[in-house]
Formats: sequence, structure tokens, C-alpha cells
Amino acid sequence: MMDIEFVRSRFIKHFDGKTGNVYASPGRINLIGEHTDYNGGFVFPGAVDKGIMAEMRANGTEDTVMAYAIDLKDRVDFHLDDPAGPRASWARYIYGIAKEMQKLGVPVKGFNIAFAGDVPLGAGMSSSAAMESCFACGLNDIFGENKVSQWDMVLAGQATEHNYCGVNCGIMDQFASVFGKAGCLMRLDCRSREFEYFPFKPDGYRLVLLDSVVKHELAGSPYNDRRNSCENVVKHIAAKHPEGKFETLRDCTWEQLEEVRAEVGEEDYKRAHFVLGEKDRVLAVCDALIAGDYETVGQKMYETHEGLSKEYEVSCEELDFLNDIAKENGVTGSRIMGGGFGGCTINLVRADLYSKFIADAKQKFAAKYGHEPKVYDVVIGDGSRKLC
Ligand code: GLA
Repeated sequence: MMDIEFVRSRFIKHFDGKTGNVYASPGRINLIGEHTDYNGGFVFPGAVDKGIMAEMRANGTEDTVMAYAIDLKDRVDFHLDDPAGPRASWARYIYGIAKEMQKLGVPVKGFNIAFAGDVPLGAGMSSSAAMESCFACGLNDIFGENKVSQWDMVLAGQATEHNYCGVNCGIMDQFASVFGKAGCLMRLDCRSREFEYFPFKPDGYRLVLLDSVVKHELAGSPYNDRRNSCENVVKHIAAKHPEGKFETLRDCTWEQLEEVRAEVGEEDYKRAHFVLGEKDRVLAVCDALIAGDYETVGQKMYETHEGLSKEYEVSCEELDFLNDIAKENGVTGSRIMGGGFGGCTINLVRADLYSKFIADAKQKFAAKYGHEPKVYDVVIGDGSRKLC
């Protein structure tokens, strides 16, 4: 995590010399369960030790927000009652979360904010959810007497994506950022919102991310198309079975998917086929983790990669290449992580194979694409919190 003094020095310099409160929220990894959240399925994320840190302070105005993005060296001021909001994409997260917290009854007024991050942008580690939950945590504390529940902050973050940023995302990233706990993964049932913490200490294995550094932009991307395909399949299944209740693909069986195959077309069929398989894989991984059977966990990760690449079609050449290198090196499990369209692979690798795998991946990737992938060892950290 970043240094509080670094953020504080910028806050003091860019505003009126006074200090505020400092809040932090993490990015996330996800062991398995991809594109299942908006389909009512299960996910298996954990918060990481990298994220966003913000210093914030009420500035005494009715609705003027003065915001400074330390990493971008960019200052934007805007009014909360301006219906259009700011144009800079980073400032829209601040505007959006403030509006959503107001909807929850928090009397948000003008404030100053400076923030910085060490969660890599575009790596599929949810820097945007880290921003939303960090700002929500700060506004709840400064203006809301901390009355807004953790779940409502999660939903406010998701609503910010939907209403102000153009990404029709599920609930996983904001959930992981708010509820994360050091050393634990979490299995979340996205339909009932029940979850459990799973201490994750795979003896003799390591979790490592390889970042292709290929840009990953979900807004206006095929992410929303994937979601539409899934919803279309559910609509067709529901129409065939008026007696049933079909809200998401979670409610649908393999047989029902086959029944509508011809009418929904091959593309939507493939998308839904992946989601049904992924739902089963998350549950299989839970059983395997309880049994300490990491080889099965890894096998399921490879199956997920295959599905994300061939059926859900959210991979890219660089990520498939990294996956192949993992296989060649005897890595236990490897797959694309997050929404896709670039970003990272997550790799479960035996400790004795780690160094050779990383060296080989760097060398082969650089030979083909002209730059090395970035390597992030996963450290599972805590969720949103006030630092001082
Ligand atoms: C993005 C979204 C999440 C989830 C993942 C894919 O990270 O924000 O809600 O859908 O993609 O699992």
C-alpha cells in the first residue's frame, strides 16, 4: 500500500494547507467465477494489498467538489448539482459515488479530495471499484455518520458504474473491495448475497499475476454485449417455461439452454454455455479447496481460461500466449482474470516451479511482443478502511 504522508503532502499542497481524513480501498483478484456475478452465480475473489488512497475533507461549500488526481497531476472542480457532472473519466467516479450516496440519504456537501493509487490500471484488478469504495467510505464517514451499511456502499459503487461510467458490471469487484479480509478469499453467492471467508494458504504453491499490459477498457466495450447475450438467453428460456421463475442464468439448466439453442443463435448459446459451466466450476473449486486438492483447483482454472477464450471470447492473443507458457511450464492452474479484453492471467504455481516459470514467461513474451509482462505476487489484504 502507498504511503499516507505522500497523499497528505499533495492534499496540503493543492488545497488550503489543512489536513483531512485518509481512506484506503483495495483492488481485487478472483480465483474463479468469471462473468458469473451478473448471472446470479458464485464468485471467489479476495482483496489485494494494492489499491486507492484518498485524503478528503468537507470544504464548507454547498456543492463544490475540488478534486486532484495525484498520479495524473490533474485537477478538476465541479458542482454536485450540475446534472451533467465532470467530463474527466476519473472525476466521474467521484461525482457518481457522491450522487449515489446522496440517494442513500447521506447529506453530501462540497469537499476537497486528493487521491493516488498503486493498483495497476487496466490490469483487470478493479482500480475503478477501489476508487468507488474508497470514496464511498470517506463520504459515509465525513457526511453520513457511517450509517450507510457495507452492502449499500457496494451497491452504490456498482450503481456509479452503471449510471455514470457506462459499464453494466456485476457486484463482484465492489464487494471484494469493501469486504476484503487479509489472508482470505471469499465465496459470494451473487443471487442471495451470502458469503463466506475462506482462509487461503496453499502450502507449497504461490499465486502470481502476469500482466500483459494490453489495455482493458470496459466502457463501451463488448462487456455489455456479453451481459445482453446472457439476458437474451434467459428471456427465451422464460418464454418457453411460463410456469417457472427465470431471473438469471443461475435459474437455467443445461437442458433448457439446449431447447433454445436454435432460436438464440450460436453466439448467445456459446456465452450461456460458458456461464453454466463456470457456475459448476466454482462449486467444484470450493470442494477442492476444502480438501486441499490444488491440482483440481488448477485444472478448473485452465478450463475457465478455455471457456473465456473460445466460448465467451473475452481473451486476446497475448493472454492466450501467457496461458500456453504456463502450461508448458507445468503451472498448476492459469487463466485470464477479470472482465477480459486484456489485463492479467492469474496463475497457481508450485513454489519450486515459480522462478523458472516467471523467467520463461518474461523471456518468451518479450521476444514476441517487445515488452515483458509485469509480475505481481498476490498478497491478500483488507477491504475499505479509514487510515487516519
Ligand atoms: C468486471 C466486472 C465484474 C465481473 C468481471 C467478470 O470486473 O466489473 O462485475 O463481471 O468483470 O467476472
